[in-house]
Amino acid sequence: MSTVLLNKINDVKNTVKEWRKEGHTIALVPTMGALHSGHASLIKKAKEISDKVVVSVFVNPIQFGPNEDYDKYPRTLEADKKLCDELGADVVFAPNAKEMYGEKKLSDTELTFVCPPYNIVDCLCGKSRPGHFDGVATVVLKLFNIVTPNYACFGLKDAQQLFILKNMVNDLNVNVEIIPCPIVREQDGLAISSRNTYLSADERKNALTISKALKEIQRLYEQGITSADVLFDSAIAVLSKELDLEYLEFRDYDTFEKVNKVSKNTLAAIAAKSGKTRLIDNIIL
Ligand code: PAF
Repeated sequence: MSTVLLNKINDVKNTVKEWRKEGHTIALVPTMGALHSGHASLIKKAKEISDKVVVSVFVNPIQFGPNEDYDKYPRTLEADKKLCDELGADVVFAPNAKEMYGEKKLSDTELTFVCPPYNIVDCLCGKSRPGHFDGVATVVLKLFNIVTPNYACFGLKDAQQLFILKNMVNDLNVNVEIIPCPIVREQDGLAISSRNTYLSADERKNALTISKALKEIQRLYEQGITSADVLFDSAIAVLSKELDLEYLEFRDYDTFEKVNKVSKNTLAAIAAKSGKTRLIDNIIL
């Protein structure tokens, strides 16, 4: 059966109602489209763990800051639907902003937002993207309420997003199991991202040093080096000087507390701009 494209919330709700009557389990893969092999791995995981798979494709305006790439963000719905077809997803849910948010002004003066705790959003990516995670948490909770999935698959590349959503589900008693999925990389190590399409050849070459720096951290850690400061300096030496580094931090993967001494469950996370393109990547040691 080929993938059905739905644009309306009520159509998704009716489809889900039928599936529930038939006793099916449902997995949701929330995306902003421009699907690539990273998303494909999430869809494959969703297929593995549930009877029905919904892929949402929605470039969510409320998670972009005023000077970010909302207008420029790649929109490739036809190709996205084709990939979902090939992978056997049941539904692509691709609403527009009006369908998701109605006529309201997209600001906290009119719209109800989910606001994750400050100490989690006020660091790493949240520091340079104020309001970003409120927008993410809000749209994801809406998607959970529309699709009512048993499972929702998210990539580990957005480790902070994953942490925030796991907390949201726990704190608000949302009946969804979050499934973290490994980062997918190009052969040379670059973490796959929809934003990689913005990179010129030179910018891509510089961007590649991000995953190289993470590999260096891993290598040194495996040799017994646990000082975050030493690992930081060694990684900086590998990063291209052409990159505009936003952060390189070591945090406990379970609590997101900063660590001075890294250990098995430490997340090493980097955000940097290559040219105008902001990229993130991480490893869990
Ligand atoms: O990770 C993303 O693509 C987005 O932040 C998400 C989770 C689909 C919410 O818009």
